[in-house]
Amino acid sequence: MSEPLVTVEKLDNPARVALIRFNRPKVLNALNDALAEELAGVLTTLDADPSVHVMVVTGNEKAFAAGADIAAMAEWDYAKVYNDNYITRHWEAAKSLRKPLIAAVSGYALGGGCEFAMMCDFIIAADTAKFGQPEITIGTIPGLGGTQRLPRAVGKAKAMELCLTGRFMSAQEAEAAGLVARTVPADKLMEDVLATAGKIASMSLPAVMKVKESINAAYETTLTQGLQFERREFHGTFALADQKEGMRAFVEKRKPDFKNR
Ligand code: CAA
Repeated sequence: MSEPLVTVEKLDNPARVALIRFNRPKVLNALNDALAEELAGVLTTLDADPSVHVMVVTGNEKAFAAGADIAAMAEWDYAKVYNDNYITRHWEAAKSLRKPLIAAVSGYALGGGCEFAMMCDFIIAADTAKFGQPEITIGTIPGLGGTQRLPRAVGKAKAMELCLTGRFMSAQEAEAAGLVARTVPADKLMEDVLATAGKIASMSLPAVMKVKESINAAYETTLTQGLQFERREFHGTFALADQKEGMRAFVEKRKPDFKNR
C-alpha cells in the first residue's frame, strides 16, 4: 500500500478537532491532482462528521505547500486542463465547508499552497513562514484564487507587487498586511493552533457555523445585504437551546454546557 498523500487524525485532546497533514515531504508538499482528490474527500467527510467541529490543515516544518506540482503540470495542454476542470474539480470542495478550517503554516506557502491557505478560514503562521505567488516566474499566473483572495487580504498594491514579481513575503510582513491572524514561534505553532482550534470546538457548533457564514457573506454581498444577513442569523440564534444556555450560564456565573442545538 502506498503512503496516503494526506493524513488525518481525529484528536482526543483537544476534543472535536481533526488534524489534516499534507504528506509529500520530498517535494515540499507540492499539490498534485491525487493529493487534491484525497484532500477533497477528507474535508467533505470531516465536515459531515458530527464528532468533528473544527479542522486544522498543516504541512511540515519546511513547507506548508510549495505550490501546485510543476513537474506534473509541465506538459499539460489547454484541452487537458479545461476538459479536466483542473483545480475547480477538487479544490472547490474547501469552499463549501460549513465548519471552520484553520491553516497552520510553517515554511513555504507558495503558489497553490498560499492560495489554499487563503481558502481556509484563517491562517496562523510560524515565524519561519514564507508566502508568495511565484507563478509568474514559471510563465503562468495564480489559478487557485490568488489574484482574487490576495488583494482582498493585503490590498491591491501589495498583491500586484507580489504576483508580478513572485517575491516571497515573511510571516511578519504577512501578519502586518492582514493575511495572517497571528504569527507564533515555529516550535509553538501546533500547540498554539490546536489550543485555538480547541477553544472554537468548545463553542456551540451552530453559532460557530453562523459566524463563519456571516463573515463570508461580507465578501460576497453589499454592506446592506451583509448586515441584513447577519441580523437574520443573529435573530436565528434565539431559536437555539445553546443561546439560552450560554446567556443563562453567564447570568448564573457558571460555564455553559452547549448541546450544539
Ligand atoms: N512542484 C513540484 N516539485 C516541487 C515544487 C513544486 N511546486 N516545489 C518544490 N519541488 C521539489 C523540487 O523539485 C525538489 O525536488 P528534487 O529533490 O527531486 O529535485 C524538492 O521539491 C525540493 O525543492 P528544492 O530543491 O527546490 O528546495 P529549495 O529549498 O532549494 O527551494 C523553493 C525551495 C524556493 C520553495 C523551491 O522549491 C521552489 O521555488 N519551488 C517552486 C515554487 C513555485 O513556483 N510554486 C508555484 C507553483 S505553480 C502553482 O501553484 C499554480 C497555481 O496557482 C495553482
